[in-house]
Amino acid sequence: MSETGAVMDVPVPPPTTIVIFGASGDLTQRKLIPALHTLDVEGRLPPKYAVIGVARSAFDDESFRAHLRAGVQEHARLIHPASDPRIESADAAWPRFASRLHYSRGDYDDPATYRSLARQMLELDEACETCGNHLFYLATPPQLYPVIVAQLGAARLNRQDPPATGQGFTRIIIEKPFGDDLPSARALNDQVHQVFDESQVYRIDHYLGKETVQNIMVFRFGNAIFEPLWNRNYVDHVQITVAESVGVEQRAGYYDAAGVLRDVFQNHLLQLLTLTAMEPPAAFNAKALRDEKVKVLQAIRPLRPDEAATQTARGQYRTYRDEPGVKPNSTTATYAAMRLNVDNWRWQGVPFYLRSGKLLSAKVTEIIVQFRAVPHQLFPQEGDQGPHANFLSFCIQPDEGMNLRFETKLPGAGMRTRSVEMGFHFGEEFGAAALPDAYERLLLDAMIGDASLFARADEIELSWQIIDPIQAAWDRGGEPIAGGWRAETAPPLEFYEKGAWGPPSADRLLAQSGRRWRLGCYRP
Ligand code: BG6
Repeated sequence: MSETGAVMDVPVPPPTTIVIFGASGDLTQRKLIPALHTLDVEGRLPPKYAVIGVARSAFDDESFRAHLRAGVQEHARLIHPASDPRIESADAAWPRFASRLHYSRGDYDDPATYRSLARQMLELDEACETCGNHLFYLATPPQLYPVIVAQLGAARLNRQDPPATGQGFTRIIIEKPFGDDLPSARALNDQVHQVFDESQVYRIDHYLGKETVQNIMVFRFGNAIFEPLWNRNYVDHVQITVAESVGVEQRAGYYDAAGVLRDVFQNHLLQLLTLTAMEPPAAFNAKALRDEKVKVLQAIRPLRPDEAATQTARGQYRTYRDEPGVKPNSTTATYAAMRLNVDNWRWQGVPFYLRSGKLLSAKVTEIIVQFRAVPHQLFPQEGDQGPHANFLSFCIQPDEGMNLRFETKLPGAGMRTRSVEMGFHFGEEFGAAALPDAYERLLLDAMIGDASLFARADEIELSWQIIDPIQAAWDRGGEPIAGGWRAETAPPLEFYEKGAWGPPSADRLLAQSGRRWRLGCYRP
């Protein structure tokens, strides 16, 4: 066990030089460096490693470190020694951690940037005895990915020793969004594969780094009692909600072009769906796991344009067009809901309902597996909301855990029943600080060389194959026509108020088949 109570079954990675492109940006300051800092104070990083930040901003090592320190103080998980006296405080750890951080200023399309980076990497390899282990991280705007990848290739920074030697690896982590449709994702995969072998590529979806998302697999395949029920014979439908209480914040430029389907459905929501629906892999390794996820994506029937009109809902929060950077007549959806079908033996006829939106009532991510009602109702139930059926909720965030809803007898005369819940909360069981940030896990895995929690090229392309037809149908039907919308391909874009759970059409999507959205973990 580690000092924090976490099980230490993960090897400490070998000495590595991590090179972050986009080092002056938000992701580096808010997520990557705080995650590395926490790994460092937990003793999960090798005794020798180095981080080089590359960006265009006018930093030197000292000002770069000061900029990052502010991010660590605000965002790192383990900075308050009071929360656990065994953890080194941020202040005590800072001088050691800061000495790992270096800055390299340059333009991303300038070969000189990569020549000077190569020199600096060589020096650090020697000083840190990193044996030429290199991990690149693309944390820049996505339009820069092709140029950086090509320049790394031209500077021969893509090379690595034969994997069998176990030394001198070169890997590259690529942030989302990976393309903005199937053709662009394919083109990016091709560009990346011209320089890096697929085994070197780690495409991030930070949801896979969340403990509760990994726990979907543990719950399903580490327990024997639920898996026999996990199919069309017992499951009525599945709901997956990724609700956010914030709006687009400072990202309107990106978001107005992307919209909710590209931002959250193509990646996070489809990942949650595949983990919920996949078959048990033969082993827990990157190939077996990703093969099973790919089979689910292949089984999802892409929606035809007429289905896009009836099986999806879309909305925009009322004040979205007033956000700085948003087009005044923008038809970008900030909310979407859809019904997908997984055409295979296990799930035939079981709808998977997905929804996500910004500026909703609360931040909550949940998966609900709604079981069928009993075949014959013996007992009267409390309330008049139709037959009560069991459901199981995976509480992904913020109250991480699980909830099982079942019927119990109301005390007293008669046999009336009421729905009650049995819950498990990670925080209560393991302590509030026990859940690592997703980036901690993912950075560590990439250094160790475990790609299980990263998306493979085919996974990304299949996801776009599901999202593209919906986006295309919406785009075709997205322009207002006399009397409304082009109803044959797109549902109306409905406005919703801040603090709602989305537009009324999302409720109608489920009501068509007598169902309703529910949340099993969220408590207002
Ligand atoms: C990102 C999206 O991938 O995920 C954001 O680009 C969204 O728009 C975020 O806010 C949600 O992540 P989390 O971890 O806060 O649920």
